[in-house]
Parts: sequence; structure tokens; C-alpha cells
Amino acid sequence: MNGDDPDEMLAAVYAADGPEANRSLYARWAATYETGFVTDRRYGYPEQVVSVFAEHGLAGVGEGDAVVDVGCGTGLAGVALRRRAAVAVDGLDISPEMLQHAASKQHDGVPVYRELIEVDLTQPLRIESGTYAGVVSVGTFTHGHVGPASLDEVLRIVRPGGVAAIGINAAHFAAAGFGEAFDHLGSSGRIADLRLVDVPIYDGADMTDPDQFAHVALFTVG
Ligand SMILES: C[S@@+](CC[C@H](N)C(=O)[O-])C[C@H]1O[C@@H](n2cnc3c(N)ncnc32)[C@H](O)[C@@H]1O
Repeated sequence: MNGDDPDEMLAAVYAADGPEANRSLYARWAATYETGFVTDRRYGYPEQVVSVFAEHGLAGVGEGDAVVDVGCGTGLAGVALRRRAAVAVDGLDISPEMLQHAASKQHDGVPVYRELIEVDLTQPLRIESGTYAGVVSVGTFTHGHVGPASLDEVLRIVRPGGVAAIGINAAHFAAAGFGEAFDHLGSSGRIADLRLVDVPIYDGADMTDPDQFAHVALFTVG
């Protein structure tokens, strides 16, 4: 497997067993992720999640505030965000190779990302609580990547009142117990106003196939 076949790579990352496997698979996939997978599969998911965030969350992001892109990969969600607003965006990801691509993304001649931070979302994050005014995540809450246990730390780094738009593969949502996790976060006051907005992962996706669409968990951090 050399990283050139998008179907083979998607199957491999979906079957990854833990962060180290992800790190090494994405090291192989980074160079062809956009030219292969994104183009061939018509992966429109970053645009979809950012559009949900823009509609509900951008108004609360003031001057001097920043939004965090969780599992930013090569930076497609950052690009989509910056096209909509002159907002500071930081990106978090486990893969230095994917982050290197994100670092090359520019909008109006300036880097899309203010800061890119190598993190493992299955571990505590070395980021101060309440740092961000909002959060987006695309393609990272999915099979073989991260589950509901990673939500706690993501919520911790967003300030109270900040808006989250977190895309979660619909099959993974059901299999990994995201419904129960969100119930608990709601009843304990850590999130409010949860809505699930269904979006296609791929342009023209079959919306009856839970691996072809995502629930975007849209909520306010408590
Ligand atoms: C399918 S890609 C999505 C990238 C980008 N958001 C997009 O939509 O194009 C999933 C990303 O999650 C990252 N990832 C996987 N496991 C992770 C972990 N434990 N901590 C941080 N990032 C992780 C991968 O490195 C990869 O960049």
C-alpha cells in the first residue's frame, strides 16, 4: 500500500487501531490525499460542515478570537472558513505530514492557519481551557479515528458560549454511542441547544447509507 489508491487508504484508516496506526497511515496518504481521495471521491464534507458553522457560529467570533479546526488534515476546512470570514483559525492534527500541507494553504496571500499544533485527540491537550470562540471538525470523528471520549477535551478548549459544528460519520455515531455521550453532556450542562444537521460526505452521496453522510453536531458550549 503506497498511499495512491484512495479506496484502499480509506479502508485502511477506517480499520486503524489507535493513534499510532493513524499517524503512520496518514504519513503515507498526505501527498495524494487531495489529488486522489478528495477529487476522485468528490469529498465535499469540509465545505458542508463549515457552511453549518458559518450560519450559526461565525457571528459570535469577534476580532481577536480564533476558531479551532480539530483534525484539520491538509487544511480544507480552514480554507473554507477563511473564504467566508477573516477569522483566525488554528488547526490540530496527529499527523505532521498532513499538517505540513495545511501549513502551505494561503488565503489572500497569508497563511490560512494562525497556528498548527500536533496533538493526539485521545490524550489530554496541552491547550489552555476556553482558548477558542468556536470549533469545527470534519472527517475525524469517524471509524478508526476518534470516538465520543475525545469530546471532553475538545469542549474544554472552547469558551462558554462558543459554537461547535462537529461532523460525525453517521454509522460511527450509532456504533460508538455518540447519542448517549451527547445526552450526558446536555444533562450535565456542558453543552446546550444540540441539533444534528445531516450533510453528505461526498457530493451526490446516497443519504440512506450511513457511511455516506454525517451528522453535524451543532451546539453551544456550556
Ligand atoms: C479523514 S482526515 C480529515 C482531514 C480534514 N479535516 C478533511 O476533512 O480533509 C482525518 C484526520 O484526522 C487525523 N487524526 C486521526 N486520528 C487522530 C488523533 N488521535 N488525534 C488527532 N488527529 C487525528 C488524521 O491525521 C487526519 O488528518
